[in-house]
Amino acid sequence: MDRYAVFGHPVRHSLSPQIHTAFAAQTGQALTYQAIEAPLDGFAATLRAFIADGGRGGNVTVPFKEEAFRLADRCDELARQAQAVNTLRVEPDGGLSGFNTDGIGLLRDLTQNLGVELRDRRVLLLGAGGAAAGVIGPLLAAGVAELVLANRTAARAATLAARFAGQGPIRTAPLEAPGEAFDLVLNATAAGLGGQAPAVPAAAFGPHTLAYDLVYGAAAAAFLALARAAGARACHDGLGMLVEQAAEAFWLWRGVRPATAPVIAALRGAA
Ligand code: ATR
Repeated sequence: MDRYAVFGHPVRHSLSPQIHTAFAAQTGQALTYQAIEAPLDGFAATLRAFIADGGRGGNVTVPFKEEAFRLADRCDELARQAQAVNTLRVEPDGGLSGFNTDGIGLLRDLTQNLGVELRDRRVLLLGAGGAAAGVIGPLLAAGVAELVLANRTAARAATLAARFAGQGPIRTAPLEAPGEAFDLVLNATAAGLGGQAPAVPAAAFGPHTLAYDLVYGAAAAAFLALARAAGARACHDGLGMLVEQAAEAFWLWRGVRPATAPVIAALRGAA
């Protein structure tokens, strides 16, 4: 059977094995998918051993996405823009291709699952790390009116915005004063992993605002509570994005597109 895996540190609680196993059952694809925790200084060696042992591809999560970008022999445009890879595929010639499906996953969840229109909308993106970098290109390509990048460390937001300056209406603003009542506020900071919300003011949210955290479950709770208290119209965590980015990876590996709705529903039911 073809082998796939997600590489991370830590990776024990990853839902990816469950998601890909459900996709495989649904589409009749014969494959196995496991979670592999690589040592912090041993991602490349762990990946090489997996491929030598018959691995056909993998997903990459924190903190190895930038290293995966450097390791890949070739990368698609979205991975190059993000300088981060979340999906690897072993090619017939043995080469390693890198992709970034995070932005596509976010867009599919927003537009197809949640019915959000992105064209001409004002979007606030909180954070300037790898998670933010992965979604900027697709958001700009979707035709947003403006994408405002706000980060605790302002210089990091400026560097990231400059990288995408030619691709659409992106600018930076202070985290403490990003502007009034955006249509969409996306949290791509790591604050929630420590149970915190980024210090964004209530004025950024209004009665028409949809608040969305790129992570799911408990890690999204503090930001979504802040958004709710500030009067946001709707609040969503990133479980749908996780399943959608996985579906895109599955398609890249297998050439088959699984249905995501039943998998999202099953994971929500189990939560
Ligand atoms: P990731 O790959 O998850 O994006 P990262 O590259 O380490 O991880 O980036 C983490 C992001 O979360 C950064 O934008 C970081 O802000 P700084 O650039 O100022 O470090 C942000 N972040 C982490 N903890 C935060 C907190 N408590 N409040 C606000 N932003 C936070």
